[in-house]
Amino acid sequence: MTEAAVQTWEGPTMEVALKIWRVDEHGERELRTYEVEAPEWACLLDVLDIIKDRHDGTLAYRKSCRMMICGSCGMRMDGRAILACKERMK
Ligand code: FES
Repeated sequence: MTEAAVQTWEGPTMEVALKIWRVDEHGERELRTYEVEAPEWACLLDVLDIIKDRHDGTLAYRKSCRMMICGSCGMRMDGRAILACKERMK
């Protein structure tokens, strides 16, 4: 989802809470909670984009095709290996 799409979505939305491990410059780990509003059709990658664009610009993750082809957005969620562009949030 592009920044323009994030700002202009219409229709039903949902509240999403993600807990993401963050590491500071001293190597200290912290499980940080982000609560955002997202469109009902959003996938995990869309929600990560919303967090990065609107709440925490330091969040970093990989992505490329957004079509479940390249594998760039592979990550772990709830202990499972997933593709962020495939994982629906609703
Ligand atoms: S961005 Fe390519 S598989 Fe998700």
